[in-house]
Amino acid sequence: MSALLITGGAGFIGSNFVLFLRRELPTLRLVVLDKLTYAGNLENLAGVLSDITFVRGDILDQGLVDDLIATHHVDRIVNFAAESHVDRSILGPRVFVDTNVTGTLTLLESARRQKIGRFLQVSTDEVYGSLGATGAFTEDSPIQPNSPYSSSKAGADLLVRAYHHTFGMDTVTTRCSNNYGPLQFPEKLIPLMIINALSDKALPVYGDGMNVRDWLHVEDHCSALLVVLERGAAGEVYNIGGNSEAPNIAIVERILTQLGKSKDLIKYVADRPGHDRRYAIDAGKMKRELGWQPKHSFEGGMQATIDWYLSNRSWWERIISGDYQRYYELQYGERS
Ligand code: NAD
Ligand code: DAU
Repeated sequence: MSALLITGGAGFIGSNFVLFLRRELPTLRLVVLDKLTYAGNLENLAGVLSDITFVRGDILDQGLVDDLIATHHVDRIVNFAAESHVDRSILGPRVFVDTNVTGTLTLLESARRQKIGRFLQVSTDEVYGSLGATGAFTEDSPIQPNSPYSSSKAGADLLVRAYHHTFGMDTVTTRCSNNYGPLQFPEKLIPLMIINALSDKALPVYGDGMNVRDWLHVEDHCSALLVVLERGAAGEVYNIGGNSEAPNIAIVERILTQLGKSKDLIKYVADRPGHDRRYAIDAGKMKRELGWQPKHSFEGGMQATIDWYLSNRSWWERIISGDYQRYYELQYGERS
């Protein structure tokens, strides 16, 4: 019986996708390959580990990937595995190229040689660069990445495109806007601000706080990925977004209000170098061609997410000790 290989399935979106598939398609065989970097957490999959095959390993390991595909009769791959944090890509870009570009190339090579049925590349709206005050990214927007992270994701997207055009591989690429929801690693804006507020620590807002992101609940991203995996057209790119734009400062204030904390905790700090000003996704193609729409409102999704972090203290308390402390000091220590 065939199986779906999910790479990076112990991270934020990957683990939500595994949990989503177990609920939606309980008979589908899942093989999860994850290196368990600082961002990977096996605890995210605790409830389903006995129902899936989990392999700790690197997408750069061609022999391992070949072996997994052959042994488990993998016929489709969804690639989430990546270095995903923009600030870390500014501190150290090399691993972003290794994992995001060469890692994707490694997966594509194995998929090509073993004639995989479909390869879904989970990409990001950041490959399009930054917008002015109006407009939204469509699938035809130019690729103009601005950070080492987004350039490495753009490099991977171009390889996926090339494998479709040159080798006739069945590939689909999704480009999603900012996700939020349960199990997000607390280096990202929303969980970082929730956890700092709960700990009465300063909330570090970059620049003037008016950079805009377009937020989507992670479960809506998962449902979109399943639709693209099953019904997307080979070689196509699909933008995914929730039509929920907000400036960062509005998000931070919303979190403080919901937690009953003072706005005095907000601390404006030095801006992120090369900070993209605004992202907005036009997800019209997903609606027109595949009938997909998000289900969560931003208000309801945020309320539920804050509640999740309140009820799952032990999950994030374990993370914010150790290595994460060292990153936090490096990233925010001298910033004023
Ligand atoms: P994450 O950082 O939470 O998880 C990444 C996962 O990949 C971790 O489990 C990590 O251990 C694993 N990994 C890293 N390097 C690996 C390697 N060499 N081999 C095997 N596994 C490896 O990331 P996320 O936020 O869940 O993002 C998942 C994907 O979705 C990424 O490709 C990202 O670019 C994309 N994306 C993220 C967002 C977002 O808002 N978070 C939005 C759009 C697209
Ligand atoms: O748009 C999709 C992308 O969204 C994904 O491809 C990335 O993997 C994901 O990390 C995310 O990138 P961002 O850079 O937009 O997310 P981040 O949570 O790091 O930051 C969101 C905004 O908040 C951004 O404008 C920077 C700002 N910010 C972030 C942090 C961590 C702050 O003001 N203070 C902070 O401490």
